Amino acid sequence: MTQTQTPQLRPLGPALGTEALGIDLSKPLDAGTFAWIQAAFAEHPVLVFRDQDLGARELAAFGRRFGVPRPHALTKYRHAECPEVSWLTNVEETGKIDWYGVKRATDWHTDSTYEDTLPLLAMLHAKEVPSEKGGTMFADMRAAYDALPEAQKQRLSGLTGLHGRTDGPVGERLYGAEKGKTDKTYDEVPWPAVTRHPVTGRSILFVNPMHTHGFVGMKREEAWPLIEELADHATQERFVYYHRWRVGDVLIWDERATMHRGAGDYKPDERRIMLRTIVYPN
Ligand SMILES: [Fe+2]
Repeated sequence: MTQTQTPQLRPLGPALGTEALGIDLSKPLDAGTFAWIQAAFAEHPVLVFRDQDLGARELAAFGRRFGVPRPHALTKYRHAECPEVSWLTNVEETGKIDWYGVKRATDWHTDSTYEDTLPLLAMLHAKEVPSEKGGTMFADMRAAYDALPEAQKQRLSGLTGLHGRTDGPVGERLYGAEKGKTDKTYDEVPWPAVTRHPVTGRSILFVNPMHTHGFVGMKREEAWPLIEELADHATQERFVYYHRWRVGDVLIWDERATMHRGAGDYKPDERRIMLRTIVYPN
């Protein structure tokens, strides 16, 4: 693969999902190619680079072009030599099925909104994939916002969401008391329910049912149904892209403009192993 030709974009789905063709991420990216990637990513918040073969350090280095990759809250899955990269895996070190890994992140969320700084983007690099299914789904929170009724937009413009670690309605359903071991505890963090994309200025619905557990000044009896209603709205088929993984895919997604989930639809005894990193602003 050479980088002498201008890279190309090819849509993968009607909502989200775009292939970036003609880029080899194992080589240092020149300024022009990286600027092209950044411009493409601002408009296409799920970008896929096929047929890559990166180690943890190379994935982190790609992340550092955008900002600062950070270690994930879950300590168990951190890469031994490169802590800002972690494993997304359904296999224990002993070779047995890792049931937490199977269940992990299989409902709608935006990553790490319980942290005091929001991530810019995250990256997954597929190393082993099941023979069928096992995809990752993405929802376009810009399009979801645009499609809300005007009265709902008005209401949300005055609301501040409250975020904790997997203690929203979906987080409680998926994990209950088994939220995984972290190396610190997390307080509640407020984020406006509607944000703007820093490059395009587009409005974004910024409420996710995994970590958003309330709104400032609203009782739980009112907040939880609203969180669920917004999640149902945003995850209608018309806003969702299902990514079918191929070994070698490097997929990057905009952590502010999208929600995502593991589809959770594969046979757990088939290996599904990826490298992951999450990138924060400089
Ligand atoms: Fe996630």
